[in-house]
Amino acid sequence: MAGKSSIIEATDRCTTGNYARFPVAFVRGEGTRLLDENGKSYLDLFSGLAVSCLGHGHKGLAAAIAEQASTLMHTSNLYYHEPGARLAQRLVDATFADRVFFCNSGTEANEAAIKMARRAVPDRYKIVSVEGSFHGRTLGALAATGQPDLQEGFGPMPGGFVHVAFGDIAAIRDAIDSETAAVIVEPIIGEGGIRVPPDGYLSALRTTCDDAGAVLIFDEVQTGIGRTGTLYAYEGFGVTPDILTSAKALGGGLPIGAVLATEKAAAGFVPGTHGSTFGANPVACAAALAVLDAFDAEAVLENVVQVGAHLEARLDELAASRDDIVEVRGRGLMLGMELTRPARPVVEAALAAGVILNATAGTVVRFLPPLTITAAEIDEGIGVLAKALEDTVE
Ligand SMILES: Cc1ncc(COP(=O)(O)O)c(C=O)c1O
Repeated sequence: MAGKSSIIEATDRCTTGNYARFPVAFVRGEGTRLLDENGKSYLDLFSGLAVSCLGHGHKGLAAAIAEQASTLMHTSNLYYHEPGARLAQRLVDATFADRVFFCNSGTEANEAAIKMARRAVPDRYKIVSVEGSFHGRTLGALAATGQPDLQEGFGPMPGGFVHVAFGDIAAIRDAIDSETAAVIVEPIIGEGGIRVPPDGYLSALRTTCDDAGAVLIFDEVQTGIGRTGTLYAYEGFGVTPDILTSAKALGGGLPIGAVLATEKAAAGFVPGTHGSTFGANPVACAAALAVLDAFDAEAVLENVVQVGAHLEARLDELAASRDDIVEVRGRGLMLGMELTRPARPVVEAALAAGVILNATAGTVVRFLPPLTITAAEIDEGIGVLAKALEDTVE
């Protein structure tokens, strides 16, 4: 077997050791395919962690980025620019939000949302979140994250964060008191294993927050930008938050985050309270505008609904034929298949056979393909998955 390539060797030698990478270096992408440095082609059912919503090498997106990069690349937030204005207007028009704060990532959006909520409800500081949630790696978002193993060795966590069981509305009601500023939840839990809330849970959360005078934050970093079949998942659930965080697919592959908020929730963000040097970067905003243009021009949401139903049906079929699949769950093109055994060996076998999948929460195979994927590509992936499942039976 050949030794490590120079890309892998230099990365392993020179970067910090916090990623458990697969030994593959990608050099090119086109549509739903990625090519590695040895010329091997892979079918991408993961989109680089729910980011590449238009697939790879999308011509309109690449052209918009190139055009903006050669026109105006950066100004800082001390000044105005057109891509930022247009994107804010577009997000306000498309959602419940009156105001947008731009940043660069999901965790940064959640930090901003937490600060915004604490300002919106003066004299209150507690943030309630759920066990098994994931909100990011910076300290505020990490404190909100309901996975103690991710916090290990980084303490003490910032104070005021309370975690309750997922899906249990009574537990949330018990946890909320006169010091609670906000409740933050993912409409569908992503990293925690694609867990869909019980019917009525999100609307009960809405009522509970209203009754308690607390802000409701939806972390739509993973569910947002079409992943579940609507631009944001809250639309599909029919429950509107006060604050919503978005990132990942918003830039189609360029880093951008956004906090969407009602006028009331955003009122505390007065000059000097918060900021981000690169927030609303013109190139990232141009990318997000190109993503939204492509959604309209290429009927991407319709594709998510149709092809998502196809993927779910094919996974259900597989589940019916095997006793090591516990459950298939999710919405649109955000699906998880829980196994009776670890998911990682299945994902490794699929990767060796040229299909990119993801293992999360130990036993869950996660599917987050580009939103432009076709039913034929899904069928190809299912064929490889079925064999990977069979080949890895212990
Ligand atoms: C729901 C959710 N929130 C926040 C984050 C953090 O986003 P980022 O990695 O861009 O900081 C993630 C990342 O996986 C996520 O899935």
